[in-house]
Amino acid sequence: MCGIVGFVGREEAAPILLDGLERMEYRGYDSAGIAVRSEKEGLQVKKAKGRLRVLRELTRDGAELSGTLGIGHTRWATHGEPNDVNAHPHISENGRIALVHNGIIENYMEIKEHLIKQGVTFTSDTDSEVVAQLLEFHYHECGNMLEAVGRVLRRIEGSYAFGIICADYPNALIAARKDSPLILGYGENGNFLASDVTAVIKYTRDVVYMDDGEIAVLTEDSIDVFDDELIPVDKEHHTVDWDVSAAEKGGYPHFMLKEIMEQPEAVRKTVSPRIKDGRVVLDDVALTADYVKELSRIYIIACGSSYHVGMVSKYNWERLLRRPVEVCLASEFRYSAPLVDEHTLVVVISQSGETLDTMAAMREAKRLGGRTLAVVNVVGSSIARESDDVLYTWAGPEIAVATTKAYSTQLVLMDLVGLYLADVLGTVEPAEYSAIVDELAALPEKLENVLAHVEDIQYFASRYFNHDSIFFIGRNLDYAMGMEGSLKLKEISYIHSEAYASGELKHGTISLIEQGTLVVALGTYRALLDKSMSNVVEVKARGAEVLAVTTEEFREKMEKTADAVIAVPESHPVVQPSLGVVPLQLFAYYVALQRGCDIDKPRNLAKSVTVE
Ligand code: F6R
Repeated sequence: MCGIVGFVGREEAAPILLDGLERMEYRGYDSAGIAVRSEKEGLQVKKAKGRLRVLRELTRDGAELSGTLGIGHTRWATHGEPNDVNAHPHISENGRIALVHNGIIENYMEIKEHLIKQGVTFTSDTDSEVVAQLLEFHYHECGNMLEAVGRVLRRIEGSYAFGIICADYPNALIAARKDSPLILGYGENGNFLASDVTAVIKYTRDVVYMDDGEIAVLTEDSIDVFDDELIPVDKEHHTVDWDVSAAEKGGYPHFMLKEIMEQPEAVRKTVSPRIKDGRVVLDDVALTADYVKELSRIYIIACGSSYHVGMVSKYNWERLLRRPVEVCLASEFRYSAPLVDEHTLVVVISQSGETLDTMAAMREAKRLGGRTLAVVNVVGSSIARESDDVLYTWAGPEIAVATTKAYSTQLVLMDLVGLYLADVLGTVEPAEYSAIVDELAALPEKLENVLAHVEDIQYFASRYFNHDSIFFIGRNLDYAMGMEGSLKLKEISYIHSEAYASGELKHGTISLIEQGTLVVALGTYRALLDKSMSNVVEVKARGAEVLAVTTEEFREKMEKTADAVIAVPESHPVVQPSLGVVPLQLFAYYVALQRGCDIDKPRNLAKSVTVE
């Protein structure tokens, strides 16, 4: 949600800021803006509603703003509609302070009213402008910018990552964070702040991750970090190993298609270092056998697609571990009364590692005494740093808003963790353990095989893209997979879609099936295939058009009932969803393409959801 970037150095700032914003546009894209300071012009600000290209045109790719110190922002609106005025940066009333903000200031109304009484005039509807004005107020009071920032942070409540520049400090960029991601980068020609490493990897891989409550002062050749008492803090440097090309389209029309195609490699990178001599090795977690044996309950907590991974894992883990596994939406978990104690393992799944609901749920689980294990893609992200244990999915940067390769790597990593725990508990037969390990190792090749048949899916997408309501049905693992297929479709193609457990259809939903309704029937879970087939017959009898996804083994059987069939290679049931989901991703992609949708940046969405 919202991307912020800042630069101070020996090069023109505006082109660097625009480049950084472009790489973070997936974080929000309803408006964008930059502020640059120069000796001659002072603070110059340009902002524009719409995509970044509008701002690029307005600033002639940055040439309109000269200066080597600046901040930029790409917005996903929370307070105030997306327009030029509400776009960031926000400027204090005297025009000397510019600020960009990611997050939400919860007590902004109260502060705004107080400032209005002091005679301050506001121009926007945002909570962020309140911070810019409050900063001017305190700066006027104390005459020192760092001190003023410290005072502001003590008054505001909520979440924030700030980038701040002030006309009186020609060579300083100020950063602060709480519950919103912010990294600082050491470059050759200057230093950076950004919400996300993708904004800076073209310039540097040497970064530090800011922690909550910290403030940083960046100049062209120094970065100083302070705690909330303004006492200097020593920060550990990290080297980012993501490749610049991983965050570029590389000839593909969309990041989403590129990322779908990268799945075999992403899965290989996630699985292969964790299988040694046929055994699952999780060197990076410190769960003792004694602890695992005492486990009474497991929670899996996540949002959106990550939650759907949790759904698949619930089916798999309960079978393998013979322990109760509950999957919770993070936004629900934190406000329920979860039964967590020291014998509870709480697994949180998050691609970004910054999803606010997931982080808050994790904190609640820790507060209640549970042990947390995070499955995360972004190294150094907040969830990764706060969890007791962390396992990384090695998907590389995922830019398309709709997740694909991160989802697939989460699935296989959860399979590995499930196997590991089952082995410690002695609840999995050696033969089954080996069969699953073998299938995980063979998965990249099988995924390549699925991706080699893209044309079939393209054809079905062109046949069905005009439907305005599509149902996904399946049982057990197929139901969990259908939830992901349905979400992919609706988020990028804007077609109404629902996923149902096939057996549940006749308890109400079947009334929606009429002549020509498209039903995507998932039949890859062999144990329940016959039952799934009966449900296909039921919807066909009510006039549905059925597109079935099954395995090669059952293609012929399915062809007898369904109108169209997509078949994927066979695998062990635990691993099968990793193959079955790929045609669903591709189907959503090609349907959205046919409908002319903005695939990588679907309306109303943003990649990293850092507000509640
Ligand atoms: C859908 C999608 C979202 C995310 C959700 C959680 O394609 O990407 O549903 O899965 O916002 O995000 P993370 O995994 O970053 O916590």
